[in-house]
Amino acid sequence: MKPVALVTGAAGLIGGYLVRTAPRWVPDWDVRGVTRDEVDLTDHGQVERLWNRHRPDLVIHCAALSRTGLCEQEPERARQINVEATRSLADLAKDVPFIFLSTDQVFDGAKGQYVETDAVRPLNVYGKTKAEAEQVVLANPAHAVVRIALTAGTSPTRDRSFVEDMVRTAAKGTMMTLFTDEFRCPLPAGALVRALWEIGLQGRPGLYHLGGRERLSRWEIGELLAARFPELRSSIRPGSVADYQGPPRPPDLSMCSDTIQALLSFRLPGFRQWLTEKPSNGGDPWDDPSAVAR
Ligand SMILES: NC(=O)c1ccc[n+]([C@@H]2O[C@H](COP(=O)([O-])OP(=O)(O)OC[C@H]3O[C@@H](n4cnc5c(N)ncnc54)[C@H](OP(=O)(O)O)[C@@H]3O)[C@@H](O)[C@H]2O)c1
Repeated sequence: MKPVALVTGAAGLIGGYLVRTAPRWVPDWDVRGVTRDEVDLTDHGQVERLWNRHRPDLVIHCAALSRTGLCEQEPERARQINVEATRSLADLAKDVPFIFLSTDQVFDGAKGQYVETDAVRPLNVYGKTKAEAEQVVLANPAHAVVRIALTAGTSPTRDRSFVEDMVRTAAKGTMMTLFTDEFRCPLPAGALVRALWEIGLQGRPGLYHLGGRERLSRWEIGELLAARFPELRSSIRPGSVADYQGPPRPPDLSMCSDTIQALLSFRLPGFRQWLTEKPSNGGDPWDDPSAVAR
């Protein structure tokens, strides 16, 4: 019998990639993706029944309310799924490796190049709920938190990744202002899930940052994407966060991923490198990390 890995949020962007790439990266595991159709993770009774049904040997917990705007509108709903559901699952998983996906948005973006020992200071409800859940998970020294960066990918519903958001916005004819002074370390989903599977198989507890090698401005990211998705070209323009009016935005959420890199069998790519080295063959441009393997 193969060991069982449970992946929550399997209908979402990253959970979807974890399940799809499992035969490639973890062929000796029985990987079971859980979607909202099977269980509402905010219902503790349902979570217990889920646990008893699967009895997993590893959990990668991706389910979340991940849209920052929705979290602001519905903070209690955000807390229930991002914190309380995480608590339920982590409690049940107390004796097995558990990986919780957190976010660079636990930081305020004032410093940039964040390392794992930097103090968190979230600016929004999403970041606050994730920071709270991190503490819940890390209370068990056998569990892991991976703070991930902006992830490029193709989601099962085609409406989850920031690239899909941009393409959809462009299709509506809406102009997007991309800040030249707001920085991120984007990572393609294919490389991200390969790293998660490797950490999962090693059973590595602790806190990790996982982002791309390159720190890029939103505008640079947009220019790189426009070279691959020409429909974006006429819909993006550069701007400055100094001219933006609205809720606070963390300016520099770049992260240093050296700790996790030291544990991986492949080199984490930069976003520019990924897009230039990986040929456009009509397939999923965010999959197939073999193109950048060491
Ligand atoms: N993608 C990124 O750029 C990024 C960056 C940093 C951190 N993260 C974190 O990485 C993790 C995965 O992100 P993602 O982009 O894959 O998110 P996603 O596409 O929004 O997927 C999250 C999934 O969780 C499910 N879910 C929400 N509430 C649930 C509930 N009560 N019961 C069962 N399932 C529920 C959602 O189902 P519904 O669709 O039905 O709501 C969705 O399928 C999240 O924790 C996110 O915060 C993502």
